[in-house]
Amino acid sequence: MAEEAVLGFLEKNEEIKDSGEFAVEKGISHEEIVNVIKSLNGFRFVDAQDIKKERWQLTAEGKTYAANGSPEFQLFMAVPPEGISRVELQKKLGDPGFKIGCQQAIKNKWVEMGKSQVSRKVAHVDDSVKDMLVKINNGEAPNQEGIDALKRRKLISPQVWKGYSVKKGPNYAPKRRKPATDLTRENLQSGEWKDLQFKEYNFLAKGFPIEGGYLHPLLKVRRQMQMIFLQMGFEEMPTNNYVESSFWNFDALFQPQQHPARDSHDTFFLKEPSTTKTLPEDYVERVKQIHESGGHGSRGYGYDWKREEANKNLLRTHTTAVSSRMLYALAKKPFEAKRYYSIDRVFRNEAVDRTHLAEFHQIEGLICDRGLSLGDLQGVLHDFFSRLGMSKLRFKPAYNPYTEPSMEIFGYHEGLKKWVEVGNSGMFRPEMLLPMGLPEDVTVIAWGLSLERPTMILYGIDNIRDLFGHKVDLGLIKSNPICRIGL
Ligand code: PHE
Repeated sequence: MAEEAVLGFLEKNEEIKDSGEFAVEKGISHEEIVNVIKSLNGFRFVDAQDIKKERWQLTAEGKTYAANGSPEFQLFMAVPPEGISRVELQKKLGDPGFKIGCQQAIKNKWVEMGKSQVSRKVAHVDDSVKDMLVKINNGEAPNQEGIDALKRRKLISPQVWKGYSVKKGPNYAPKRRKPATDLTRENLQSGEWKDLQFKEYNFLAKGFPIEGGYLHPLLKVRRQMQMIFLQMGFEEMPTNNYVESSFWNFDALFQPQQHPARDSHDTFFLKEPSTTKTLPEDYVERVKQIHESGGHGSRGYGYDWKREEANKNLLRTHTTAVSSRMLYALAKKPFEAKRYYSIDRVFRNEAVDRTHLAEFHQIEGLICDRGLSLGDLQGVLHDFFSRLGMSKLRFKPAYNPYTEPSMEIFGYHEGLKKWVEVGNSGMFRPEMLLPMGLPEDVTVIAWGLSLERPTMILYGIDNIRDLFGHKVDLGLIKSNPICRIGL
């Protein structure tokens, strides 16, 4: 109804000057008219211009004066021509009325306040305050002076009224039809297409979000780590075998066969196939020797080394198993210095908690060259970790069966404002390198860390199960920020 009223009126008239007055004329609520105008304006059926009017509204106090007269008038009327005592007058008028009435009536010079007696100063007064309030209530505006006075006495308050003036718009039609969104076979055949109004394209509309592949935070951080290694001249090691023999995972790394890590409580052993098929026999022999009785200046462990133990298949517990294969392969050729890295999955038979899973990713780097020292290791670690945004490092002596010396690495995390353990490192033992056949003056410095830990710190995740595994919220995968390592 409101829409017909607006469009119908504009068919015969230039303009609706004031939507408020129009609403009153048509007996439709202003709110309804305004909604229709906004909608018609959006589709350019009409051209609407805002109008704002400041209006005055009576406050609660103003309303009582408009109904009962101002307190000063009431006070004047309560004073008989012969005068009245203050006490009596106060009793007649009540407290606030008496106080305000006195103030105003004295200001107006209507009454004389003696010590105890009150008397009239004039014979007749007009209640102009009440008259003005009544006028305002009827929508009329009194003069500015009057308004100021009423405002000061807080009898009226301003109210901004918003409405529109409306003219025909470029798409004006006396009736709004739903615009067509498609040109159909039917309306082509019937000729109806000639009169159809088509909906305009909205080139600013957002399209549907495109569903595609998303990178898991671990993949993003892995990519950044890869880039750092590549920038530092490292080559990637082939880590595409989760199944490894105990030989490469432990024995080649001079890890004794009684070592607790080789227990099924710590390592997942394979049932099928439970053992490896082939191992390089002459090298196996040298590894056996070094474990049992040492050599190259080492005393070895002095125990009975068992081939069956070395043959056992397992899920690799660290990517250092791959490093041992790579160094062995390197030793077979004329020596060449190398920088190798890998980032891949490893498995440990561990109790799962907030920070541990039975599988995780290891980042490993090693440099193999003549005469490398612990100082070289510390230097490379500084280079590597400062590229991750950690330039303050501390080292703590540690133990690994395959490295001597060994160091745990701690980095000062500027965001968390504390020292966090960031990795493990060391120089591979001669008992590991010499049986492989590497030259005596070749040393290998190496380090490893998990991919999960820096990822959790970077993405503010404190439970590893929120990052990896079946409990991960897919929303995290779809909307995680880009990785900004070291920025
Ligand atoms: N393999 C070690 C680990 O699992 C990491 C490491 C790699 C330590 C290389 C020293 C040298 O924690």
